Amino acid sequence: MNAVQRQPYEGLAAIYDYVMRHVDYPDWAAHVCALFARFGHHPRHSIDLACGTGSTLFELHRLGQQVSGADASAAMLEVARQRLAQTGVEIPLFHRDLRQLAGLGPFDTALCLYDSFNYLLTPEDLDRALSEISSILLPGNFFIFDICTEKNSLRHFRDVRDEERGPGFSYRRHSFYDREGRRQFNRFHIRFDNRETELAECHVQRIYPVDEIIARIEASPFELQGSFDGFTFARGSEASERIHFVLQRPADAGATLRAGPHAPQEIPHRPT
Ligand SMILES: C[S@@+](CC[C@H](N)C(=O)[O-])C[C@H]1O[C@@H](n2cnc3c(N)ncnc32)[C@H](O)[C@@H]1O
Repeated sequence: MNAVQRQPYEGLAAIYDYVMRHVDYPDWAAHVCALFARFGHHPRHSIDLACGTGSTLFELHRLGQQVSGADASAAMLEVARQRLAQTGVEIPLFHRDLRQLAGLGPFDTALCLYDSFNYLLTPEDLDRALSEISSILLPGNFFIFDICTEKNSLRHFRDVRDEERGPGFSYRRHSFYDREGRRQFNRFHIRFDNRETELAECHVQRIYPVDEIIARIEASPFELQGSFDGFTFARGSEASERIHFVLQRPADAGATLRAGPHAPQEIPHRPT
């Protein structure tokens, strides 16, 4: 069957929550809050960047935070809007690329979860995003993002095909890793029961060396306060499959000690 090509998430958005139903968003939100708390930070007004269909937004709202969401995909935001409308929860949503956030904020907390940062394909994109995110945070405040590592790609997504049937649709996925180019590809073919055509979309993520991510953070307006393996408080490294990075926008130039990537993780940050 001929497939109609779509941009990433244009077709997937409608089935994303089903495909990701194994993800424990309450646990993930709780872990991120625990990471913030470790540095003495207690979010009150957060923005979830690359919020997708809003699952983390719902969790943060449930935890009592004032939250907003932003994403580059109109289709993902539309699903988030429908979910909000169904529950009566009011959360502002913005159609924004991570690299263009002017006009948002200010917030005391920013998040970007579930390897959304891996969609930034060049170091320049990382620099631009970090600079923009810093600009929407109040001085002294915090940002957490996570990335997938090469270990994750090699262990789980080197060359994997799967398919599944859900309510009203079926999909096939081929995940493969280009080790030389450090690109993770996920190709989806999605078929809705009530439509003749199949949709195809190809997701490309860059799998950065951990040291390169740290170098970009060090070149950014942020201070790196810690990097954490998976859903633990152990230090993140190339041996991790996922790493959460905790960043702080300095209170003012020179007011915050540079922790650096090799600072002891056990020393809690003292807010200035
Ligand atoms: C794997 S999904 C994660 C969504 C959500 N954070 C979650 O945990 O379910 C990746 C998200 O990143 C968004 N995204 C990718 N590149 C982006 C960019 N440059 N700016 C903003 N959002 C982006 C996609 O639209 C998608 O919603």
